[in-house]
Amino acid sequence: MTERTEGKPVSLWVATAGTTGYPQLVADVEVDVAVIGGGVAGLTAALALKRAGQTVAVIEAARVGTGVTGHTTGKVTSLHRLVYSELAESHGNATARTYGQANQAALEHIARTVSEERIDCGFRRVANYTYAESQAALDLVRTEADLAAGLGLPSSFTTDVPLPFPVRGAVRFDGQAQLHALKYLQGLADAVDGDGSFVFEETRAVGLRDGGPAVVDTEQGSVRARDVIVATNVPFGDRGSFDARCYPHRSYIVASRAGGPTLDATFISVDEPMRSILTVDVDGASYVLTGGEGHRVSDGGDSAPRYARLASFSRERLGAGEAAYRWSTQDAMPVDGLPYVGPLFPDAKHVHVITGLRKWGLTNGTAAALILTDALCGRHNPWAAMFDSSRPTPMTAAAQSRAEDAPPDSAAPGPAVQPYLAIPAPGAGTVVDLDGELTAVYTDPAGRVQAVSAVCTHLGCTVGFNAEDVSWDCPCHGSRFAIDGAVIQGPAAKDLRPRPLP
Ligand SMILES: Cc1cc2nc3c(=O)[nH]c(=O)nc-3n(C[C@H](O)[C@H](O)[C@H](O)COP(=O)(O)OP(=O)(O)OC[C@H]3O[C@@H](n4cnc5c(N)ncnc54)[C@H](O)[C@@H]3O)c2cc1C
Ligand code: FES
Repeated sequence: MTERTEGKPVSLWVATAGTTGYPQLVADVEVDVAVIGGGVAGLTAALALKRAGQTVAVIEAARVGTGVTGHTTGKVTSLHRLVYSELAESHGNATARTYGQANQAALEHIARTVSEERIDCGFRRVANYTYAESQAALDLVRTEADLAAGLGLPSSFTTDVPLPFPVRGAVRFDGQAQLHALKYLQGLADAVDGDGSFVFEETRAVGLRDGGPAVVDTEQGSVRARDVIVATNVPFGDRGSFDARCYPHRSYIVASRAGGPTLDATFISVDEPMRSILTVDVDGASYVLTGGEGHRVSDGGDSAPRYARLASFSRERLGAGEAAYRWSTQDAMPVDGLPYVGPLFPDAKHVHVITGLRKWGLTNGTAAALILTDALCGRHNPWAAMFDSSRPTPMTAAAQSRAEDAPPDSAAPGPAVQPYLAIPAPGAGTVVDLDGELTAVYTDPAGRVQAVSAVCTHLGCTVGFNAEDVSWDCPCHGSRFAIDGAVIQGPAAKDLRPRPLP
């Protein structure tokens, strides 16, 4: 029997932040810098550039902050599970040190911005722990704690871990933070808009040209700018092969009513299944957030049991009550473990990208935005070389990623394709072969049937039905489409074509 999880299928942050109402772009504008994407990376860059005296225009396809950032867990930290051991092994201690410095500086930048712009987003200093339950994991956290301390980070090993279940020990980073990510982003947008700078919502970039000036085309107007930053999470207009240098990874979060006192820290486990934990007070109610169940998007599968396992963990290990909200999102994982910041493609002069934030984008995305701000203001940045988007990415890793994600020039992955015999049951979706064309057919709970092409507009893989989120998802590079075919998440930039049914 399929387990069903209670709770509204919406992010706690989206449900409780209120909405913004910036206008659509309807005429041409000219600014110093155009920023495509109103997530943490784009808005942080936009505000930093505005504060440096430049005019900016943020172009957001939906509402600011409602992309990946509005679906995060909300940890603001430089402790990313066991990242320092991983980076020291793959890239050496110097890179691990720089990564730590960049993320610590990003954390402090966020703290300063919240204070200076008076953003009411529940920013709270807490310690962050990576905890171990098994002996093997204990050895790993000891190593991580010592290594990170040696790199100059606020790290220590402890056996005193403030969780309501026994663990063997943890790495503890002091002075970290958590926040309401969507309220933070709305505060950034508020500070960006005005005085010759703009935020445009419900405005999708559909074309991009490098040059002097560079030009971003949207459906109704264009933005001419000296420089363009592509901060669409997965690059829009990707000519830099980031689809081979990153793979999309999805995770799930359940917010349950808290059953005990607020935990005064945030946590992530070393042992599998990985669990990410924090508690938060929003609008007078306390919630326990449990995240995990991550997988490569290409691995697909039913999300209902994943939510059910997270809700059980919250109840059984953290004493939480019923699930109130549940949501999932995906982020771009760089194959070599480091984000990409810099030229969008090899000969790009004025078009820059931020991507590959490896599920820690509140700080990685902030650091990336500060690197680009320095570059566009002619300032040296000590972290720029490490994040450089034009660095060679190991071909074997990239090739492996491509192979595992089954590119469209091999057998196109996707759901089993049915011959078109009957419409799906209410609430169900399926991919059928209709007159030789793969077609995604959905029947809504009221019995209305809608059909769109099942061929992903990015590179031609076959989309599959996501029953929990009621969307068509592509297993190759993570594009997601609404039932009517509209793009929810890139890299696809074009909607799925409507298909008539016989
Ligand atoms: C489950 C989960 C939990 C996470 N928890 C944490 C955490 O606790 N702490 C942490 O640091 N990180 C966390 N992360 C990672 C973090 O959320 C992301 O790295 C970060 O939010 C990505 O920000 P972004 O600006 O790149 O993308 P987004 O927030 O997605 O912003 C990109 C924006 O671009 C817009 N866009 C796309 N295409 C176009 C177009 N053509 N034209 C105009 N606009 C466009 C989108 O609508 C979107 O709003 C988590 C990730 C996951 C998956
Ligand atoms: S083919 Fe790349 S996301 Fe679909």
